[in-house]
Amino acid sequence: MSQEKILVTAALPYANGPIHLGHLAGAYLPADIYVRYQRQRGRDILFICGSDEHGVPITITADNEKVSPNVIIDRFHEINKESFDRFGMSFDIYSRTSLPIHHETALDFFKEFNDADLLVEKKSMQFYDNSRQMFLPDRYVEGTCPKCGNLNARSDECENCGSLYDPSELLNPVSKISGDKPELKETSHWFFPFGKFQERIEKYINEMDEKYGWKDNVLQYCKGWFSSGLQDRAITRDLDWGVKLPIDGVQNKVLYVWFEAVLGYISATKELFRLRGEEDGWKDYWQDPDTKYVAFIGKDNIVFHCVIFPAMLMAWNDRHSTKFVLPQNVPANEFLNFEGKKFSKSRHWGIDVIDFLNNFEADSLRYTLTMNLPEYRDTDFSWKDFQAKHNNELADILGNFVNRTLTFVHKNFDGKVPPLYSFDSRDDELLNLLEEYPTKVADYMEKYRFKDATLEIMNLARAGNKYFNDSEPWKTLKSDKERCSTTLNLCLQTIYTLAELFMPVIPNTSAKILKVLNKRSVEWMNAGKMHLNEGDQLGTPEILFKKIEDSTIDEMKKTTAAEPVIDGEDFEKLDPITIDEFFKTDLRVAEIVEAERVKKSEKLIKVMVLLGKEKRQLIAGIGKAYEPEQLIGKKVVMVANLKPAKLMGLESQGMILAVETLEGSLNVVEVDSSIKNGTKVK
Ligand code: 2FM
Ligand code: ZN
Repeated sequence: MSQEKILVTAALPYANGPIHLGHLAGAYLPADIYVRYQRQRGRDILFICGSDEHGVPITITADNEKVSPNVIIDRFHEINKESFDRFGMSFDIYSRTSLPIHHETALDFFKEFNDADLLVEKKSMQFYDNSRQMFLPDRYVEGTCPKCGNLNARSDECENCGSLYDPSELLNPVSKISGDKPELKETSHWFFPFGKFQERIEKYINEMDEKYGWKDNVLQYCKGWFSSGLQDRAITRDLDWGVKLPIDGVQNKVLYVWFEAVLGYISATKELFRLRGEEDGWKDYWQDPDTKYVAFIGKDNIVFHCVIFPAMLMAWNDRHSTKFVLPQNVPANEFLNFEGKKFSKSRHWGIDVIDFLNNFEADSLRYTLTMNLPEYRDTDFSWKDFQAKHNNELADILGNFVNRTLTFVHKNFDGKVPPLYSFDSRDDELLNLLEEYPTKVADYMEKYRFKDATLEIMNLARAGNKYFNDSEPWKTLKSDKERCSTTLNLCLQTIYTLAELFMPVIPNTSAKILKVLNKRSVEWMNAGKMHLNEGDQLGTPEILFKKIEDSTIDEMKKTTAAEPVIDGEDFEKLDPITIDEFFKTDLRVAEIVEAERVKKSEKLIKVMVLLGKEKRQLIAGIGKAYEPEQLIGKKVVMVANLKPAKLMGLESQGMILAVETLEGSLNVVEVDSSIKNGTKVK
C-alpha cells in the first residue's frame, strides 16, 4: 500500500447563506470523490474545510437583519455543516474562521510579514459613507465598472470582467448601506507586495503545470492576472468584524478577509490535530515537502489560490527553514447553472442542498451532478435531466443489474454465491474487463476527470447487463446448470467491482451493495479481482433506486424555478419623491440610427439617436441583450436632460431606459414606431 501523503482543501464557504447545488458541483463534490478514491487507494490523506466567517457579505446580512454577525455565522455554519453531512462530504474537519486558533494563525502571518518590513503602510482614498460615518470597503459600494461598463461592479473589483482598479475610477458609486453617493476619504492600510512575487509565482505555476498538468481554464485565468501585472494590495480593511489588528492605537482595522480565509486551511488543520491531542501533527502535512497539496475551488476563487495564497506562503517560507507546501494542483471548476440561469437567492432561482435532500437521496444528486460537472465549461442542472439520469441510468442500468442478479440467485441458488465452472469466451472477456477497470478509472481520478471516471463505471454496469442478457441464464438454468451457475457467479463478482468503484461517487449505494454481498471493501486496485466465494450467503435484495415520477419533477420545477415574485416589502422601502422632482427628469422618445459595440466591453454599445432633429451619442449597457444591428430603427425612451458622463473614455449624452431581466441583461423600453422622435414621455 502506498503511503503518499495528500492534503486536500475545499474552499471555505461563506457562512452567509445556505450552499446550493452550484457550490457542490464547483468544489465540494469533486473534492470528496477525489478524497474517497485516495482513501480507497490506502493513501494517507487529510480533507480540510470549514466556514469562512468574516467578510463584508456577512456584515451586510447582519445589518439587514439587525442582528450581530455572530447570529448569522452560527446559523449558516450549522446549516452548511448539516448540508455537507447529509450530502455525504467526508471532511476530516469542518472548522470555522471565527475560532481563536484561526485568529492567532492569521495574525502570526501578518506579524511575520510586518516585522520583516515586507508590508508597506500606505495612505489611500477609500469610499466613506457620511450618513453612517464609516468607511465602505469593497462590496459596500456599487457602481459602474470603468473597464467594461458592468453596472453592478464593486468599489475596486468587477466580477464581470475580472478587473481590479482604484476606487476613484469607479463610475457612479453608491453606498449599499445608505443608498447615498459616498465620498472618497483618506485612510491608511497595510499593503502586501504581490508585484514582487510575480516572477516566482509564474515560475511556480509553470513548473506545477509541467509536472502535474494544470487545467487549461485555471492557467488561462492566471495568465490574465500576470499579463496585467500583479499589484500590491491592501491586506487590511476598516471594519470591526474580522481578525482585528493587534497594533496599539489602531482601531477598527481587520485583516482583509481573503488574506486570512486562505490561512483558514492551516488553522483548521491545527484544530484537527489539537482535537486529536497531537498539537504539532498539522506540520506533518503542511510542512513536509513530500506532501501533495490539492486545493479544490470554483473558478471565482482562482486568483486567491493560485496567486495570493502561494505568494503569502512563499513570503513566509523565505524567512523560515521549515517551509509550507504550496498547492501542487488547483483543479478549479467552472460554474453550474440552474435551468439555464445563474443560481440566485434573491430571484428565487435554484435549490438549496438541504431542500434537495429533503426530497431525494444524496446519491441520486451526487451521481447526476458528477455526470454534469462543469470541469471544462459552465454546465446546467435541469430537473428533467436529473429525472432522466436517476431513472434511466441509476435505476435502469445499475439498479436493474444488481436487482435481477440477486433475485435470480435467491430464486435459483438459495441466495448463495453459485460455484464457478469452466469459462467461455464471453466470461473471459468480462473477467478481463473487471481486471482492467480499477486502473482505467484510477487514471481518470488522478487527472481530476471525475465525470469521465463515472461514465466509465456506469459503462461497466452496462456491460454487466449485456453479459447477463447475452448469457441467457434463464435458458441455461434448464439446459446447462453449470453454465448458468458460472454466469451468475461472474455477475455477482461484477456487482462487487461496481460497488467498489462507485464508492467515491455514490457511497451510500455502494455500502448497501456491499452489505447485501456480505463483503468488506478492499484496496482499490484489487477491486476487479474475484472476491466472492462459492457458497457465501447473500442478503435480501432491495430496490436501490425507486423511479422518480413526472409529477414529482413538475412539483419541484414549480417551487424552485418559479418566476420571481417582487414582494411588497421592496416597494415599501422606496423613498417617495414629489411630482415636481419627477418632472425634473426629461424623458423623450428617441430613434436609434447607428449602433456599434464599444471595444473591449461585453456590455457597452455606442448608439447614435435622433432626438427631434438633434443627434446624440449614448453609451448604453445593453450589449448582453442585443447585437448592434438589432437596435437600428428602434424607438426608445431616453433621459434627455442628464448631464453628459464619460464611460470608457466615451461621452454619453443621456441614458436609455431599460428593464433588467432575470439573466441580468438590460432590454430597452420601446414605444410604438409611429411616435415621433422628441415626443415627451410622462
Ligand atoms: O467564495 C467563497 O465562498 C469564499 N468564502 C471562499 C474562501 S476559500 C478560502 F480562501 F478559504
Ligand atoms: Zn468590468
